Amino acid sequence: MQGSERFEVALSSGVDVPNPLKFLPIVFAQSGKQQLARIQEISSEITENLDDVLQYNQGMQTALAVAYAVGLTVIHRARPENAVRPARALDLASGPGLYTLCLQNYLGYGKITGIDLSPVMVEVAQKNAQEKKLEAQISFELGDVSEMTQMGDDFFDLTSFTDAAHHMPDLATVEKVISEMDRVTKPDGLVMVMDLARLRTAALTENYVSLLGADYLKMGLPYFFNQFRDSMYAAWTCSELATAIPPNSRRVWCHLFSKELPTLQIILGLPVGRQQAFLRKGYPWSPRDCPVPKKYRLDWFFAQFTLFSATPKYTPAAKRAVSAGGIRAWHKRRGD
Ligand SMILES: C[S@@+](CC[C@H](N)C(=O)[O-])C[C@H]1O[C@@H](n2cnc3c(N)ncnc32)[C@H](O)[C@@H]1O
Repeated sequence: MQGSERFEVALSSGVDVPNPLKFLPIVFAQSGKQQLARIQEISSEITENLDDVLQYNQGMQTALAVAYAVGLTVIHRARPENAVRPARALDLASGPGLYTLCLQNYLGYGKITGIDLSPVMVEVAQKNAQEKKLEAQISFELGDVSEMTQMGDDFFDLTSFTDAAHHMPDLATVEKVISEMDRVTKPDGLVMVMDLARLRTAALTENYVSLLGADYLKMGLPYFFNQFRDSMYAAWTCSELATAIPPNSRRVWCHLFSKELPTLQIILGLPVGRQQAFLRKGYPWSPRDCPVPKKYRLDWFFAQFTLFSATPKYTPAAKRAVSAGGIRAWHKRRGD
């Protein structure tokens, strides 16, 4: 029996390993050739069921908050220093708007638009904004993220697309979405795509899903659990998602994932002319206001440790798109 197989057997034996060391056997078993092919979700990912959406709406009490904290920290560390206030953000496939609200709450984006294809998601997101008295700053609209051609160029300071690239039918559609994000984001703005990544084998996926998702079932969130499980099978591997980075972009692109435990991946389109993703350290909250529930703090620590110690992969900007003339013309239009 090979080392990785031994770990998979140990994992299925139900031994209760302390958190977050519970992930270590998966880390070891993950090394090797990708075997698990993608399985596109069979359950309808565009839900019309209010109960399903209300389950998703409890995401801030689950491990999803860890992913949100990672995304918010990445934006905090990568966004330009001189962001104009109130900065505009576009959140694609915004679901019930939990992450969208975080963009306002933790990062201070002042005018935010969320877009989602599920009318019930949009309705619940609007209610969430109303409850926080943020409906003047944050609006939610029904729309298909793969059809954004009606939006003008260079409008948003931030465009984000979290936990939804795996819902797209193919990588050509993901590339179309990211290209449109690139187009509608100001040259000095930031594009951020964050999603799950598919693991190497079905056994590893089942282990990971049951380790992280056991709590969802205890919390009475079976829809949320099933969505998570299906999403892990539908997710793009890191090398697959890398092929959706737009080839003719004026931006440098940064792909961040942990080689050892690539369950979460982030693609950043940097402000035009910038070569490095991160300008600063730290978090967009004080320790008391960390959005991660106490019971997931070790998972949060582990996620940061694996992700931020990884070396980002950079894709250079297309030569013609970043010609000095192009950037000068943009500054001239802005009256700089
Ligand atoms: C897993 S949820 C993610 C929600 C949110 N972004 C988050 O991070 O919590 C995926 C969302 O993508 C939406 N979605 C799927 N395909 C879409 C499309 N083509 N256009 C717009 N929204 C879409 C679904 O309705 C769902 O609300």
